[in-house]
Amino acid sequence: MKKFYITTPIYYVNANPHIGHAYTQVAVDALARFHRMIGDDVFFLTGTDEHGEKIEEASLAAGFAKGKEKDFVDTIVLNFKRVWSELGITHDGFIRTTDERHKKTVQELLMRMKTNGDIYEGEYNGFFCTPCETFWTDTQAEGEKCPDCKRPVARLKEKNYFLKMSNYQDWLIDHINTHPDFIKPDFRKNEVLGFLREKLNDLCISRSKERMAWGIELPFDKNYVIYVWMDALINYVSAVWEKDKLEKYWPADVHVIAKDILRHHAVYWPIMLKSAGLPLPKSVFAHGWWKMGDEKISKSRGNAVDPVALKDKYGIDPLRYFLIKAVKLGYDGVFSEDALVLMYNSDLANDLGNMLSRTLTMVEKYFSGIAPELTPADGSETQKKLSAELNEKTAGLLASVRVKIGSEDFLLKEAIDEVMALVAKANKYIEVSAPWTSAKAGDIGSVKLMTADILEVLMVAAMGLYPFIPGTCAKIWAQLGLAGTIDGEVGKKVFMWYKWRAFPAGTRVAKGEMLFPRIKSGA
Ligand code: ME8
Repeated sequence: MKKFYITTPIYYVNANPHIGHAYTQVAVDALARFHRMIGDDVFFLTGTDEHGEKIEEASLAAGFAKGKEKDFVDTIVLNFKRVWSELGITHDGFIRTTDERHKKTVQELLMRMKTNGDIYEGEYNGFFCTPCETFWTDTQAEGEKCPDCKRPVARLKEKNYFLKMSNYQDWLIDHINTHPDFIKPDFRKNEVLGFLREKLNDLCISRSKERMAWGIELPFDKNYVIYVWMDALINYVSAVWEKDKLEKYWPADVHVIAKDILRHHAVYWPIMLKSAGLPLPKSVFAHGWWKMGDEKISKSRGNAVDPVALKDKYGIDPLRYFLIKAVKLGYDGVFSEDALVLMYNSDLANDLGNMLSRTLTMVEKYFSGIAPELTPADGSETQKKLSAELNEKTAGLLASVRVKIGSEDFLLKEAIDEVMALVAKANKYIEVSAPWTSAKAGDIGSVKLMTADILEVLMVAAMGLYPFIPGTCAKIWAQLGLAGTIDGEVGKKVFMWYKWRAFPAGTRVAKGEMLFPRIKSGA
């Protein structure tokens, strides 16, 4: 059994999750579900980033006294957990940076870096951006603005500890060049290599408790807490910091993040690991941003979209489907509820939902609800020709979906597009076949052939879409009357080994509720 360790960022608990956070969760959930389907031993980790100045400020703003930050984060973390459960996210681990085990691991790793001679004491004189929790030099923070988020930065001048990043600069450049999958998509690799062309500044890794005490204590100086990004990045190993688990799962197969935190994951994190004597993750995949107009969606910009409100209005799967299909993973997308409704009606209601209901109606009408058994004599010559064409497209679909989702480039949208192209083709096949005319003319053999073919397509399409819209696909599976469950042994076998004409003749279908009732625009 191959292991597959996949992570999301751990999110700041200064506010509730929005559509951007939900996007990463859904993409990673689809990948985790896919890997479970192909038989991998999956560990899908998510969690929350609970220390630092930003959280301290949020806690105070929410009316919690200084020193009571833990009470504050305890309330917000529940919202994260609830939202992930409402969106059908199947993480195997949920880490909080306030977990005792995490704190111990962070301190142990910091001690290792210190013992290796990579941590030294010096004076920090520069800027700090609290919303980004990032240190900036005078040149970087030109005009006293954060180069990333453009918000004002604060001057910070204090004694601090530093990690010698420059010790590892050449090694890191070499690692990136010799491991083509380390940074994905490929165009992001060039960005990081560009950043590494300039000499790396040593990383300030502490905050003086006098100014900001909400963090994990530095193991070698109790006057300091550890810089929140150092604390946070270590979550990926602290979550598996038990002998068997560490050996089994580390290094992670992929950290999925958005592009704004690529530098932390592709520069700071590998250097921290190298200094602490641990292997590097195999890959860091940076996806793009959901925007409103030209602006990134974020709580602090006041343009956050609530994923739960969308789910309550349209259902989990339409939301999941839209998030993945609307944008190629790695690129930015502009959010629009109208676009979601349009996609719902055209893809899910018209194409997929309608194909299921009209096919099951035909099985009921012409074959008393039982999938027909074919004989070589069934179907006119024209019908057989049409059938052969559909057969060709259907037979190779799941193999192609496996290649797409399983590739290092995570071709999720492309996998959906391919399944939906087959669904569109199958709907055309029904139109062209005109079974109602064949039936009237007494050619029941053609109706049989067409019906069997579409049942086949429905089974294959449900399998191909399962990682993205699992609830819907389980319903299709049940309405088709198939044995077992779509994500159980029977489904997994079909997913891996599908061959044309696998749909068992004689199956009694079970037409049920309409999957996607049409939505009137503007509803
Ligand atoms: O950065 N579009 O936490 P965070 C797409 N705690 N994805 C978005 C998004 C958007 N508009 N907005 C947020 C942090 N995300 C740190 C991470 S990891 C060791 C520490 C998603 O709460 C995306 O995955 O600001 C992004 O990387 C993450 O939320 C940032 O969440």
